[in-house]
Amino acid sequence: MLTIGPYRLKNPFILAPMAGVSEQPFRVLAFRLGAALCPTELVSAQGLFRVNERSLRYLRHDPQVEIPYSLQLFGGEPEVMAQAAVIGKQWGAQLIDVNMGCPVKKVTKSGAGSALLCDAPRAGEVVRQIRAATGLPVTAKIRSGWDAHQKNFLAMADELGAAGVAALAVHPRTRAQGYSGKADWTVIADLKRHVGDKFPIIGNGDVKTVADATRMREQTGCDFVMIGRGALGNPWLFRELLGGPKPTPQERCETVLDHFRAHLAFVSDGRVERDKTRTPEEVAAFSRLAAVKQFRKHMGWYAHGLFGASAFRNTINTLEDVAELERRVEQFFLGAKEDAQGADEEQDLDYRTALG
Ligand SMILES: Cc1cc2nc3c(=O)[nH]c(=O)nc-3n(C[C@H](O)[C@H](O)[C@H](O)COP(=O)(O)O)c2cc1C
Repeated sequence: MLTIGPYRLKNPFILAPMAGVSEQPFRVLAFRLGAALCPTELVSAQGLFRVNERSLRYLRHDPQVEIPYSLQLFGGEPEVMAQAAVIGKQWGAQLIDVNMGCPVKKVTKSGAGSALLCDAPRAGEVVRQIRAATGLPVTAKIRSGWDAHQKNFLAMADELGAAGVAALAVHPRTRAQGYSGKADWTVIADLKRHVGDKFPIIGNGDVKTVADATRMREQTGCDFVMIGRGALGNPWLFRELLGGPKPTPQERCETVLDHFRAHLAFVSDGRVERDKTRTPEEVAAFSRLAAVKQFRKHMGWYAHGLFGASAFRNTINTLEDVAELERRVEQFFLGAKEDAQGADEEQDLDYRTALG
């Protein structure tokens, strides 16, 4: 089953929504390298409902490339979620994805994210009201449950199915587990067996290689495979999944630079017009610095598994000048060789910061 609602996707591989990562430049890159769907990072329904400028900026996307454009919302109140989805639709959203897995307290304390796992009827109501208000297909992304004692993914699937969900993604860890331990793929298999062909199941969790994706599909029968951390610094994974090559050093270097420039443009976009308290030069310098700091994590991920990665990371973390950074990127990536030992290092990621 390669369809979600009215959309026939070109393949079964989906980029996971990731806060601070799945922004327009990275989504466009992943789409271009073969991903069939790249939902936005989680966007606050309250923020959209209150027409908060910062939340609205998350809705920027490239309608030429991002087809279908899937907007992930988080919120606990069905009416607010529905109103936010209407705004999302006005901005071009073609699919609405509901976050029912975020473990962060700031999100769950308002009944949103994984707190919806504790109230399946309300989760169903969120889906129902968004569908009624927008007429758009609605997907949801859940965890296996709140904790080891409440793994209610099957009950959630029943409730969301009855509400007319167009597809269901599952990250098979509980809320209590956060990102620790191994994703339990038997949850995905149980879910697929339970749901059958009523709606597609999107398996997620710990897919880092082509072999992992193949294993997940074989072991669980899931319709789609969603990849998060495995795509950090390696968006070419989507091309490899379709039988394409790994990047050459030249291509890797060009992509890092293109992504960096797209990110600079994305962050500065519209700021000069909005910020009347500073001179245009000050605003430009301010947003350039913000973009440079945000992009350091991507550069670190791109360097992962290459000789000299940690020295490169240390260097770029001290640099603020765009031209100097670009020079260092060229110097490092053009000559970069794979480091079999370095590839085993745990990636430098603080999920709580990224999600906070
Ligand atoms: C940095 C980061 C940010 C994330 N942000 C979101 C988010 O905004 N919405 C969401 O549903 N899941 C979010 N997640 C969870 C991922 O979508 C995914 O479920 C999880 O990383 C497991 O998949 P993986 O093993 O392929 O990374 C985030 C994960 C990471 C690592």
